[in-house]
Amino acid sequence: MTALFGFALVLSCSAHVFALKSHLFRQRVPGPADTDVDYKTYYFDQKIDHFGFLENGTFKQRYLVADKHWHKEGNPILFYTGNEGDITWFCNNTGFMWDVAEELGAMLVFAEHRYYGESMPFGAESYSDAKHLNYLSSEQALADFAVLIRYLKESPATNRSAVIAIGGSYGGMLAAWFRMKYPHVVAGALAASAPIWQFPGMVDCGVFYRIVTDDFSRGGKNCDANIRVSWKAIDKLSSTDEGLQWLSREFSLCAPLTKGFDLKSWLQETWVNLAMVDYPYKANFLQPLPAWPIKVVCENLRFSPEVPEQELLSGVAKAAKVYYNYTGEASCLNISQSATGNLGMMGWFYQACTEMVMPMCTDGVKDMFEPQEWNFQAFSDECFSMFGVRPRADWAAVMYGGKAIASHSNIIFSNGGLDPWSGGGVLQSPSESLVAVWIPEGAHHLDLRYNNEYDPKSVLDARQQEVAIIKQWIKQWAAHTQREL
Ligand SMILES: *[C@@H]1O[C@H](CO)[C@@H](O)[C@H](O)[C@H]1NC(C)=O
Ligand SMILES: *[C@@H]1O[C@H](CO)[C@@H](O)[C@H](O)[C@H]1NC(C)=O
Ligand SMILES: *[C@@H]1O[C@H](CO)[C@@H](O)[C@H](O)[C@H]1NC(C)=O
Ligand SMILES: *[C@@H]1O[C@H](CO)[C@@H](O)[C@H](O)[C@H]1NC(C)=O
Ligand SMILES: *[C@@H]1O[C@H](CO)[C@@H](O)[C@H](O)[C@H]1NC(C)=O
Repeated sequence: MTALFGFALVLSCSAHVFALKSHLFRQRVPGPADTDVDYKTYYFDQKIDHFGFLENGTFKQRYLVADKHWHKEGNPILFYTGNEGDITWFCNNTGFMWDVAEELGAMLVFAEHRYYGESMPFGAESYSDAKHLNYLSSEQALADFAVLIRYLKESPATNRSAVIAIGGSYGGMLAAWFRMKYPHVVAGALAASAPIWQFPGMVDCGVFYRIVTDDFSRGGKNCDANIRVSWKAIDKLSSTDEGLQWLSREFSLCAPLTKGFDLKSWLQETWVNLAMVDYPYKANFLQPLPAWPIKVVCENLRFSPEVPEQELLSGVAKAAKVYYNYTGEASCLNISQSATGNLGMMGWFYQACTEMVMPMCTDGVKDMFEPQEWNFQAFSDECFSMFGVRPRADWAAVMYGGKAIASHSNIIFSNGGLDPWSGGGVLQSPSESLVAVWIPEGAHHLDLRYNNEYDPKSVLDARQQEVAIIKQWIKQWAAHTQREL
């Protein structure tokens, strides 16, 4: 894991993709608001390789079932298409499903994505080398879901049930792709904050960081402007030993800084994380945070960008501590920890290094970050040195159609205006049954969270619309099943 960590921070060209994605999907965060979470855990024997016949082994795929509100034959199944992390964490953080289960009389199923959590195709060896990692792909994961659903539907009680795929983030991409590839298995998909277009040639690589910047510019006076000038100030101070010591003290770092670059990468990730979790109420998704955390952060950055470097960076340190020390329990800040090397992140690195190639770039003009181009070759070289494999830049487009998705049906693409990932999302309805839902005040998949008294009206409306559409899909499915059986 140390090698990985060095890699993510040291290599500037791909640091964007790696650092960011790790946070988007970070897992094992303590204490989500799991109010009414009561489920049973099961394991299903999955083929390691669905698409070839040589590797005939199986592994145990974990899935969770909650059937408290499901007491009628043929009632629907809401199926969470697990993304890269421990499925219990997604289960705890997808309050929407728990909130609507009763109204829909639905069974909830949360299926773990292979190579994450407990669902390891080769046990402890799963991550040992490229040979063992070879079966980590979105296609294999979707096939796992399809096979699992086929099994769940063997019973007469579930035989006619409509299955609705639901997911957020990469899980949302999986939900959408699941409906596209397996329309006979799922009646429809709710793809929340799913950046299915964050692939080469589909969107401008700078859009992600521009949205982050917009969030901070709305967060308070001079907020983005001060962050914009902070990078040079860090460079200047970190050019001397005294400066490094001062920075280490001011940021209350656990270990003394040896170069400014580490601090800059860590701060950049911190601002990105804040943009993703800028929720309207106190929450604990990635970190325990106050309501509208960016506003709180920006209160520390209201001074003029002309102030001396130390004054500026003193404010930046206070701002960062909103993210890392809201509880007041942090004894020091660990700049290694925004790029934690846990298994989930390693898996995502591998996926980013194979089929999930998501270009990111900054120009320092339209965004508040230091300019950094997207360099596919450098990215590919790093992937090769790390895993012995090279990414296929166009594969996602070949496999999932890129922008040409109008022939599909029954997918909701919901996105939040504050969420940097909305830049790679589907924001306009491509057809009548591919519905884009826009939540202006929403951060990363706010709609999938539990209902909250501080929810803006836009997300309440979004959830209402989503439930109404899901009900239509369920009806439609029943009509089809009637004809087919
Ligand atoms: C699985 O593969 C092994 C090794 O190739 C072979 O010995 C075994 O018979 C196969 N098992 C099945 C069920 O096909
Ligand atoms: C999810 O919630 C359950 C039940 O409250 C808890 O036992 C579990 O640790 C939580 N999982 C995660 C990853 O937070
Ligand atoms: C319904 O159940 C039968 C056996 O009980 C099974 O053969 C069939 O595949 C099931 N249908 C679906 C849609 O899964
Ligand atoms: C975190 O906040 C507490 C309470 O305000 C404070 O005592 C502590 O020094 C802070 N930790 C850091 C690393 O700044
Ligand atoms: C900082 O985080 C890294 C990576 O998680 C960990 O190995 C290290 O022990 C931490 N340092 C301190 C002082 O907590």
